[in-house]
Amino acid sequence: MKTILITGGAGFIGSHVIRRFVKKYPDYKIVNLDNLTYAGNLANLRDVEKAPNYEFVRADITAGELMKALFKKYRFDGVIHLAAESHVDRSISSPMEFIYANIVGTVNLLNAARTVWEDFSEKRFYHISTDEVYGSLGATGFFYENTSYDPRSPYSASKASSDHLVRAYFHTYGLPTVISNCSNNYGPFQFPEKLIPLAIHNIKNNKLIPVYGKGENIRDWLYVEDHAVAIDQIYHEGKIGDTYNIGGHNEWKNIDLIHLLCEIMDRKLKRSAGTSKNLITYVKDRAGHDLRYAIDSGKIQKELGWKPSLQFAEGLEKTVEWYLANEEWMKNVTSGDYQKYYEHQYTKR
Ligand code: NAD
Ligand code: TYD
Repeated sequence: MKTILITGGAGFIGSHVIRRFVKKYPDYKIVNLDNLTYAGNLANLRDVEKAPNYEFVRADITAGELMKALFKKYRFDGVIHLAAESHVDRSISSPMEFIYANIVGTVNLLNAARTVWEDFSEKRFYHISTDEVYGSLGATGFFYENTSYDPRSPYSASKASSDHLVRAYFHTYGLPTVISNCSNNYGPFQFPEKLIPLAIHNIKNNKLIPVYGKGENIRDWLYVEDHAVAIDQIYHEGKIGDTYNIGGHNEWKNIDLIHLLCEIMDRKLKRSAGTSKNLITYVKDRAGHDLRYAIDSGKIQKELGWKPSLQFAEGLEKTVEWYLANEEWMKNVTSGDYQKYYEHQYTKR
């Protein structure tokens, strides 16, 4: 039986990866290591928490000695590292948390693997990253695996730094690493600070939908379960030392996405057409707001046969249905500090 460490498994993407691995691989023991920040929620894993091949360990990846002790105790065969501070807006207001979690935390895991693993053959350290490390595109072009790094927010700079360190450990110590850089994910269990769940939450509660700047920024959206499938394939078949870009080939201007979401919400909530659109409010732009992200995922499509399975309209509809059916989940994650943090007065443009 192999033991796989998945970090950040109580978060959005991590919970989908844990669910997939626990169910699909009964021969793996899956250890979910997460310190349950505001973004980590064990309710994301209710359907697998009692599985015999699953164990949760509450621990902070910034604790280096503890990481080594856990590597010794569990004798991990592989690592899928997702734990991170993940929201750009928070990185603008509190950059240091991103430095500790994303950079120091990643190095602690690399050091634990390097020093505790005696033999690197059959081992694998898979680091999950973002397309934001490549910076911002103009109206045309795509991010490729060999696009130069040009991060512009504290979040993307911290992820870029962690990617560089992972590659450094591959080249310097021969640690068997692999990296993937993915575009914006959406789907169930995403914390309502990111655009789609925040807008769903606000529309449902008749609150304004804050659109930064002119709403013309473009993101490439991928359904989270498609990302989990890609992670599964890269973990098992990806080439050591390589990088894979993952994306939806699904670019949307923020304002167009919000319009589509408003239409779906009006229909699902049985409100008259146009009701939700009245909530759209243009607010002060995000500092250093990247204009456009777009991934070329040709490499993973060609080498591993992966491709996105869902059309955006279908994925968005499923996502809305999930949030409307899981009010209790939303109530829990928006209790406590949420109001103070996210329901501040936006400055109107
Ligand atoms: P998330 O914020 O929903 O979850 C992050 C998880 O990490 C939480 O459960 C949190 O408790 C945990 N965590 C944070 N700091 C920790 C620490 N110091 N020790 C232990 N656990 C800690 O994030 P997400 O959206 O699921 O993203 C997961 C990973 O995927 C991140 O590395 C992120 O950079 C990357 N990524 C995200 C997206 C996206 O669109 N969300 C796209 C590409 C890549
Ligand atoms: P977000 O979901 O925060 O992801 P990222 O910044 O990592 O791409 O934001 C997606 C896009 O939506 C981004 O261009 C910023 C914009 N946005 C808004 O216009 N309003 C909001 O309230 C949020 C959270 C984001």
